[in-house]
Amino acid sequence: MDSNILKVGIVTVSDRARRGEYEDKGGPAVVAELTEALRSPWEAITRIVPDEQDLIEDALKDLADELGCSLIITTGGTGPAPRDVTPDATHSIATRELPGFGEQMRAISLKKGIPTAILSRQCAVLRNSTLIINLPGKPSAISECLEAVLPAIPDCINLIGGPLVETNPDKVRQFHPHKQH
Ligand code: MTE
Repeated sequence: MDSNILKVGIVTVSDRARRGEYEDKGGPAVVAELTEALRSPWEAITRIVPDEQDLIEDALKDLADELGCSLIITTGGTGPAPRDVTPDATHSIATRELPGFGEQMRAISLKKGIPTAILSRQCAVLRNSTLIINLPGKPSAISECLEAVLPAIPDCINLIGGPLVETNPDKVRQFHPHKQH
């Protein structure tokens, strides 16, 4: 196993995508965004899970603890509807909260004129040495929210002991205050 390769778990949370009633657009949108943004080597491990808290928790724990993902990105299930339980699952398996991610993502979406962005309960947490970030389900929201927090992701992964992550400077401002030279 090459520990320099960033392993990224990408979890689509959707009853309908899981049942195959529609094609998963969220997971591929996260992959496309990271492909443009990252310059250093990375690999995606993708999962589609229904909106069930225990199954989401199991997927997050498996990707973090067994498969060694330094980063997990979820999409979907962050709203206030009864079956939106992704943030609940994320909080319940967290070892620490990182509230700045949710604040930044909601602020950016509100600035873009989306008043319903305040309905999103999306958050980011650590589970030991894994950074887990919740994104909303809509593909347009995925790129907006991910772009808003990407500049902070390499430094966070560095601080929790993960591999060096370098971004494509055309797409993401390189910001690495703790990088060892
Ligand atoms: N953020 C952006 N940038 N664009 C959006 O369209 N939709 C909001 C919010 N955040 C949205 C957004 C809405 S309507 C909801 S209910 C929540 O994300 C949760 O969406 P999810 O259930 O697909 O995760």
